Amino acid sequence: MRKPLIAGNWKMNKTIAEAVELTESLLPGAASATVETAICVPFTALQEVGRVLEGSSLALGAQNMHEEESGAYTGEISPLMLNELKVTYVILGHSERRMYFAETDRTVNGKIRSALRHGLRPIVCVGESLEIREAGTQKDWVKDQILQGFEGISGDMLERITIAYEPIWAIGTGRTASSAQAEEMCGFIRDLMGRMYGENAACGVRILYGGSVKPDNIGELMSMDNIDGALVGGASLSAADFTALMNVGAE
Ligand code: 13P
Repeated sequence: MRKPLIAGNWKMNKTIAEAVELTESLLPGAASATVETAICVPFTALQEVGRVLEGSSLALGAQNMHEEESGAYTGEISPLMLNELKVTYVILGHSERRMYFAETDRTVNGKIRSALRHGLRPIVCVGESLEIREAGTQKDWVKDQILQGFEGISGDMLERITIAYEPIWAIGTGRTASSAQAEEMCGFIRDLMGRMYGENAACGVRILYGGSVKPDNIGELMSMDNIDGALVGGASLSAADFTALMNVGAE
């Protein structure tokens, strides 16, 4: 059975001191959560946040990595560096990376393969722009992102991968996809996984929704058959909101 995941993506927010403070305030809520939980923090805060998380169920994640282990790649962070910091998850192919840093499906594919080789758990982001949604070609777009992003990745690796469907028009806009829209795409992604890897593997793969997820819409999103949690931006920066999100479904 798929265990839901609520993951926070802090993006480029929080100094080390602020990150430690927020993490400490998330520990009680993470301890009572019945879902899996993670926070993906800036590189600079990984070490200190990792210390705070020791012994807790809240997992540590990064927001990007380079596919090579080392070399002349100024400003980049390698999988070995993340391993050393005991990082569990790494977000790959976020739309902001694709949009502002020219990441392509090809580079995302290299990163996924590298993350898997190094024992990291990739959270692979896909999703369409407003323009594509309005043209009605969002499924073709996401299918392409997945076909290219997953090239060379074998079915036995799927259990280590989480997919996050994040429509760009819903990110940071307050405009959440309706639960029906989110479910339709997450179901489509699962069907596609089924065609690529077989029914069993597709049933086991965890698919998140991301884009303006808040305590007041998480319940409905999570009640959908094919939505196994959320990748949360803005609301993960508030201890109260993220605590509520981590405890979705709890009494
Ligand atoms: P918001 O929750 O701020 O819309 O961001 C979503 C996101 O991009 C998570 O990766």
